[in-house]
Amino acid sequence: MYFPRKDVKIISNIKNHVMKLPFAEPYKTKMVEKIYRSNRSEREIWIKEASFNLFNLRSEQVFIDLLTDSGTGAMSDNQWSSIMSGDESYAGSSSYYNLKEAIDDITGFPYFLPTHQGRAAENVLFSVIVKEGDVVPGNAHFDTTKGHIEYRKATAIDCTVDSATDLLSGDPFKGNVDTVKLEKVLKSNPLDSIPCILLTATNNTVGGQPVSMENIKEVSDLAKKYGVRLIIDSARFAENAYFIKTREKGYKDKDIRDIAREMFSYADAMTMSSKKDAIVNIGGFIAFREEELFHKATTYNIMYEGFITYGGLSGRDMNALATGLYEGTDFSYLESRIRQVEYLGTMMKGYGVPVLEPFGGHAVFIDAKRFLPGLPPEEFPAQTLAVELYIEGGVRGVEIGALMADRDPVTRKNRYPVLEMVRLAVPRRVYSDKHMDYVAAATASVYERRDRIDSGLRIISEAPIMRHFTVVLGRA
Ligand SMILES: Cc1ncc(COP(=O)(O)O)c(C=O)c1O
Repeated sequence: MYFPRKDVKIISNIKNHVMKLPFAEPYKTKMVEKIYRSNRSEREIWIKEASFNLFNLRSEQVFIDLLTDSGTGAMSDNQWSSIMSGDESYAGSSSYYNLKEAIDDITGFPYFLPTHQGRAAENVLFSVIVKEGDVVPGNAHFDTTKGHIEYRKATAIDCTVDSATDLLSGDPFKGNVDTVKLEKVLKSNPLDSIPCILLTATNNTVGGQPVSMENIKEVSDLAKKYGVRLIIDSARFAENAYFIKTREKGYKDKDIRDIAREMFSYADAMTMSSKKDAIVNIGGFIAFREEELFHKATTYNIMYEGFITYGGLSGRDMNALATGLYEGTDFSYLESRIRQVEYLGTMMKGYGVPVLEPFGGHAVFIDAKRFLPGLPPEEFPAQTLAVELYIEGGVRGVEIGALMADRDPVTRKNRYPVLEMVRLAVPRRVYSDKHMDYVAAATASVYERRDRIDSGLRIISEAPIMRHFTVVLGRA
């Protein structure tokens, strides 16, 4: 493995001492956590013991963990101190009201229910609105979202724009909903079988790509025209707002929180995995505009999560979440976060590694089909590449491809999505740019020896749904 110091440049010609200062992280480190840098032979043994499933590795066996940006962020001193003042009353705690105030302020939704994480929000909400035979159109539903829809014998219909699967397209809003595809679904299904349109912003499944405000408005207009609710899966709403600010005409001078409030103003409800843009280690919520829907969901929340004023969270968790919602919508934080992801993507590209562009908000996605063109889809090229990257440098990414796509619930045949990718998700406020250099160099080393990776992996056993979490694999 090699580490060229491309970052060191001698500045010899600063005219009149005037230069544009670069951005820098708006925080400094107060506490550190040791990480173990293993060697290759250790990793070869560990990955075999883990059945070539990266979810089975122990965290100490990973040097740089880019498995997910979910719940892996570093909380601030303010969040930790708000934890100390958490109110653990079963009902009516002040922490609940702190959170309510923050959600009202940032989203504009008047009702909310806390849940322990995003999928719990989906479970509660879909228990009210999704029934057998329904269809739920959206833009590449996240796997747990799709899982909760399919578990209820309903169908998730993907209406994402075609540019999302064109890896070379520079479309700045590849996460958008194709409104022609969406209207076709709305026209060709009985409206009482469409409980909602589900818009995910940013769109994780197609590479953390943003949805434009214009698109959100168009989708909202269609939702109103057909009398269908619009729900936003908001796990990364703040990163989406950053992209709207920096890429969409008319938003350059607007504040991130104003942009977020405008996004939500077009929707009827939102589900939130707070483990992403609210920078907490656990937490979620559902927020609603309709009082009646809120009341219906309350019953399920009490059954599955907990009483209305804590719903699966402790008071201290709710306090940290309330603080995190403000920190996660701060422009200078978002700039440093998204530009760190961009830095990693740019380094990779510099080494010739095929990556999805534009780079996503939370992750760099490697195109496994172009990286390992000789591997057949049945041998799971993206999972094979993720395993190789782990063996090479102790870097843990995740497969977003055929394994994650599961089998078709009716035919039980493997689904092979157009995008077969390895996602390297960057935790918030955790790793330095030096860690990013290391990740890029490790990937480049695998890329150099790609011709020698001539076989992939096969499934030995799998769960009937969401198999990638627990699948047992062997060498093909
Ligand atoms: C877009 C999106 N929606 C929903 C979820 C589910 O959230 P959680 O992991 O908190 O259950 C995730 C998690 O990664 C996600 O990325």
